[in-house]
Amino acid sequence: MSSAQRLRLRPTLLSDLDFVVTVETDSQNLPFITPWERTQHEGAVRIPDFRHFIVEAGADYDAAGFVILQGCRNPNRSVELKRIVLQPKGQGVGRACVRLLKQMAFRDLHAHRFWLDVKGLNTRAQQLYAKEGFVEEGRLRESVRVTNDNADGYDSLIVMSMLDREYLARQALGLEDVR
Ligand SMILES: CC(C)(COP(=O)(O)OP(=O)(O)OC[C@H]1O[C@@H](n2cnc3c(N)ncnc32)[C@H](O)[C@@H]1OP(=O)(O)O)[C@@H](O)C(=O)NCCC(=O)NCCS
Repeated sequence: MSSAQRLRLRPTLLSDLDFVVTVETDSQNLPFITPWERTQHEGAVRIPDFRHFIVEAGADYDAAGFVILQGCRNPNRSVELKRIVLQPKGQGVGRACVRLLKQMAFRDLHAHRFWLDVKGLNTRAQQLYAKEGFVEEGRLRESVRVTNDNADGYDSLIVMSMLDREYLARQALGLEDVR
């Protein structure tokens, strides 16, 4: 096990929000997300329908980023991976984190459906989700405006999901091991 895969999630505190906003507005991350106001993060830390976590990774469990789940009390048992933003990239932290979030969604929150949307330009995240068993449901065509890098146009949002029976099947095949 590499040190990058040592990973844990701890509930975000209001005192973590400077870190959260810094990571979210980093130019490496901004094109791939729609950043929130600090008050929206404060709401997500406090409101029980959300789970807001700091991702800690590596040998010393340094803060590596943050994740947000929404719909944790959804009567349809449809839980959303609202946001995942990590500073180390390409070292396996994203995969380890998505595995942990699936376990949380299906085992702890008893989700029937775990879903997310991802921008069309975000091929890195799409690959990760597809490899981790998320299925494309459809595309919200040209639903987000893109104005970075002197561009002014629209990108689509790809909706992807996993169902509880798909998760159980992957688990039976040993594809959902959490380190
Ligand atoms: C998207 C993100 C969470 C992925 O985490 P990560 O730690 O970089 O990803 P991992 O190292 O775990 O890689 C997992 C898979 O992603 C894909 N991937 C990783 N880096 C990639 C790259 N540069 N290009 C294409 N695919 C890539 C690969 O399929 C990889 O699997 P492999 O190692 O078997 O090839 C992270 O890069 C990030 O926070 N990006 C900015 C914010 C963002 O895009 N959030 C998601 C919004 S929907």
